[in-house]
Amino acid sequence: MKIGGKIISLESVDSTNSLLLSDRYRLMPSGTIMTAETQTAGRGRGNKIWFSPKGGLYFSILLDAQSDLNEYNKLALMIAFVIREQLAEYCKTADFRIKWPNDILADGKKICGILTQAKTRGETSRVAVGIGINLNIAKPDFPQNMDIDPVSLSELACETIDKDLFLRQLLARIVNVHKDFLDDGFEKILDDINAVLFSKGREMDFSIKGKIKNYRVLGINPDATLRVYSPETGIITINIIDTK
Ligand code: BTN
Repeated sequence: MKIGGKIISLESVDSTNSLLLSDRYRLMPSGTIMTAETQTAGRGRGNKIWFSPKGGLYFSILLDAQSDLNEYNKLALMIAFVIREQLAEYCKTADFRIKWPNDILADGKKICGILTQAKTRGETSRVAVGIGINLNIAKPDFPQNMDIDPVSLSELACETIDKDLFLRQLLARIVNVHKDFLDDGFEKILDDINAVLFSKGREMDFSIKGKIKNYRVLGINPDATLRVYSPETGIITINIIDTK
């Protein structure tokens, strides 16, 4: 079934990723989308909480995993690319960048995060690609001291965003990019992704196996890992599972 063939819209859940991957939804077809107005235990990478008040867009896409689960890092980046494209259409004045592995920043502030999780039962694995976008969240409503300063699209665009319309437009883009992913199209858009990579050519801190290290960001590789450089290590590759 195609992505969005079935859409489950809920008011409040703990986490759309966790619920879609739970046993209760094990018979849901691949491509099912679950959206929620709020999440009580929204999850981010590295066991962080994803702040999920009303006004944000929170949804997960359930997929039957056809291949190596690492391949889904490519899909997450391809989805980040089309989300970035759509955000840039809504607000022409901000600089939207993809921060490897799965964030989108607007003028250096976090506007979107993607969390890909997998669940294996016997021979089969299912993947939930969870997307959180700060659409209509007022600045004072964000908690203080977040890792990266957050920003909402409504603040950048100076108007309230029509969430249903935004989601409909985004799903059309995601359907197309998912086809490209299945046709092994990651390398075709890799140059475009690298062109909007946050910090490309500059130095940035990475938390690798719990230790903060500084590297110059060189670019994303064809296998979705990141190429970086430091004088001590030379050019090395960072893998998503090594970060945080
Ligand atoms: C990150 O930036 O660390 C990733 C954040 C991912 C948040 C989304 S919101 C929908 C889905 N459900 C979750 O619990 N998390 C993802």
